[in-house]
Amino acid sequence: MDAEQLREYGHKMVDFIADYYKTIENYPVLSQVEPGYLRNLLPDSAPNQPDSFQHVLDDIQTKILPGVTHWQSPNYFAYYPSNSSVAGFVGEMLSAGLNIVGFSWITSPAATELEMIVLDWLGKMLKLPEDFLSAGQGGGVIQGTASEAVLVVLLAARDKILRGVGKGALEKLVVYASDQTHSALQKACQIAGIYPENFKVLKANASTNYALSPELLSETISKDLAHGLIPFFLCANVGTTSSTAVDPLLALGKIAKSNGMWFHVDAAYAGSACVCPEFRHYIDGVEEADSFNMNAHKWFLTNFDCSALWVKDRSALVQALSTNPEFLKNKASQANLVVDYKDWQIPLGRRFRFTTTCDIADINNY
Ligand SMILES: Cc1ncc(COP(=O)(O)O)c(C=O)c1O
Repeated sequence: MDAEQLREYGHKMVDFIADYYKTIENYPVLSQVEPGYLRNLLPDSAPNQPDSFQHVLDDIQTKILPGVTHWQSPNYFAYYPSNSSVAGFVGEMLSAGLNIVGFSWITSPAATELEMIVLDWLGKMLKLPEDFLSAGQGGGVIQGTASEAVLVVLLAARDKILRGVGKGALEKLVVYASDQTHSALQKACQIAGIYPENFKVLKANASTNYALSPELLSETISKDLAHGLIPFFLCANVGTTSSTAVDPLLALGKIAKSNGMWFHVDAAYAGSACVCPEFRHYIDGVEEADSFNMNAHKWFLTNFDCSALWVKDRSALVQALSTNPEFLKNKASQANLVVDYKDWQIPLGRRFRFTTTCDIADINNY
């Protein structure tokens, strides 16, 4: 495809999407198709001959859109808010256009540096403690999802404690959270090899607005210590998906600290609201946390996927997740002059996400 074709098809695609948004309210929010509907509408194997762009767009209109659930519809109220914006959308176009795989600083210095700067901006907008910003030992990183965010910090915490107590102690490591906590934590525990009986799901009830009780946490930790177990990870919530419960971060954080545990705050759903001064108090106590996560793709007008994670000690992530094969070595990394985000996440590859930058710039305009 040459530049002129890109211009032609790009304009057609933007028109198609703009028309979709203009008429989005006419669609039923929930797709009405039956399971397997698409197999009957498409050929058994890929066509041998090329098709016209217009024909592809027609197929999307008649065969794909009926099978779409319209997450961007103003009538959509399922799961959680998930609205993108024009700023996010045009940022995504740029990300797709440049198509950068920025796993190390050297693979595209601007990708890493812009991400560090923008995560610092966002951290400042949330009034996170300075320890979470990149000037010190911490910093922010974009993960795909909150599930990946909690997994990477759980792995960092697990490896940190095991370095102290010995690898054989894995069976004694205990994770705590309320029963309102997202199932992403359970999945992370499964992947991290935490023994199922050591994932302690503590009952939260209506009397505390479904917040985790510090007293219950303390009691449970004391019992576990008496049984020779090792409490090492606490996940608190700011805005659970099912009940919007907010845990008392300050009190929980102090308990975690006094027991030498990693304290993670999952604000995936509601964290975006805390850029507003009137809602910032919901994350009071975040200064006790080791890591904090919010999904920009939920409530921050940012296209999926974009989950912002901050840690106070980036070396804990790097020690747990870094590999250094010959083919990735380069002078800047070897000299420890740069951040290589490949060491802060599960995959090697990662995309350049302009969408967050455009969104923050846009939100600052309001
Ligand atoms: C509070 C909370 N934590 C975690 C998640 C998991 O999010 P993700 O799909 O980004 O993994 C969600 C998603 O609904 C959530 O609301």
